[in-house]
Parts: sequence; structure tokens; C-alpha cells
Amino acid sequence: MRGIEQIPWLYDALMRLAPGIERWRGQLVAEARGRVLEVGCGTGRGLPDYAKDVELFAFDINFESLYRAQRRREGARIVCASAEAIPFADHSFDCVVSSLVFCSVPDADRGLAEIRRVLKPDGRLLMLEHVQARSRFWAWLLDRIQPTWTRVSGGCHPNRDTVAAVQQAGFMIEEGSFRERGLMRWFVARIGD
Ligand SMILES: C[S@@+](CC[C@H](N)C(=O)[O-])C[C@H]1O[C@@H](n2cnc3c(N)ncnc32)[C@H](O)[C@@H]1O
Repeated sequence: MRGIEQIPWLYDALMRLAPGIERWRGQLVAEARGRVLEVGCGTGRGLPDYAKDVELFAFDINFESLYRAQRRREGARIVCASAEAIPFADHSFDCVVSSLVFCSVPDADRGLAEIRRVLKPDGRLLMLEHVQARSRFWAWLLDRIQPTWTRVSGGCHPNRDTVAAVQQAGFMIEEGSFRERGLMRWFVARIGD
């Protein structure tokens, strides 16, 4: 069964109801520089907001979404691929961007290892993700609704601790880059020593 993430018109319609997320995503991608890879770009809502001079690559596992993505950014090189097997060479990007993706990637650890592989040693990972709640009650509730929401959304796990997963994958969060609002987290990470 297809979920919201696999139905491009529905995903776009719902996203228009979340202007705060749209704004944060726009601000995040605007920080990317150089040769940039967006992971799980979906319908490409972030693509118009990249700086004009970035060399932009993007991919998503859902082929249908990529028609919309391609229209949103002329010149971007867009492919259908999985985060667990990124089809690019080692150390080939200055920047990798992920917005609302690692809640859905089936093997998040594998996906993060792939991002490490394709990033240059001094490259940056820009992330906007929602994570498990801090409060015990909300965490309990998210755990309860997760199976149903994962089916309806088409893969999203609302109770993942993506910040911890990023750190466990060997990234260090840049001091001062971490922002949080409700369940949303924004940060810039680099490959640790
Ligand atoms: C919530 S949407 C976010 C889309 C876009 N990044 C945004 O900010 O609007 C999650 C996206 O992750 C993609 N996705 C899920 N698992 C993936 C995987 N293993 N590899 C690549 N993309 C994946 C989905 O197809 C979907 O387009």
C-alpha cells in the first residue's frame, strides 16, 4: 500500500499546511555550498532554495516524486536511488542535505554510513529531522501510534532518535548549529576524528 510519502500531490498539499517546516527547510538548504547532494529529496520542495551557484545532485527512492523534483530546479541532477546504496563515489560532496528523511529510511545506520562515505573529509551534513519526544508521556504516545503512522505515512517512524544515530555514525554536531522546536531538530554535523 502506498502511503503519503509515495503520493506526490498529497505530500505537497499537506506540506503547504506546515509553513514553519517549509521555512526551516528553505533556510537549511540555503546554507549548502559547493558540490551538494540532497538525500531523499521527495517532490523537491527544498530544491528552489539552494544558492544559484551550487552544483546540485539529489535522489529519492520514490520514482514518482522525482518528476515534480525535476521541475523545481533546472540543472539539478536527479536520480532514483536508495540512501542505503548511494550511487556516487567516495568523498565526492562538500555537503549532504537531509530534510525529514531519516525517520523513513529503513536502515538508517546503513544510510548514515553511506553519507559518511560520499562526504569529503571536511564536508558538512545539514539535517532537519523530527525525533522522539523528550517527555515521557509524548514518547509513550509516539511509540503507541508509530505502527499505524508508519503505514499511513508510507514509512515515517515518529519515535526515532536520529540525532543519536548521527552521532553514533561518527559525526560531530557543530557547536552552535543545533536548534530545536517541538519535535523538530536542525543541525550541521561533520565527520569526527
Ligand atoms: C517526508 S519525505 C521528505 C521529502 C523531502 N526531503 C522534504 O523535505 O520534503 C521522506 C522522503 O524520504 C524518501 N525515502 C525514504 N526512504 C528512503 C531511502 N531508503 N532512500 C531514499 N529516499 C528514501 C521518501 O521516498 C520520501 O520522499
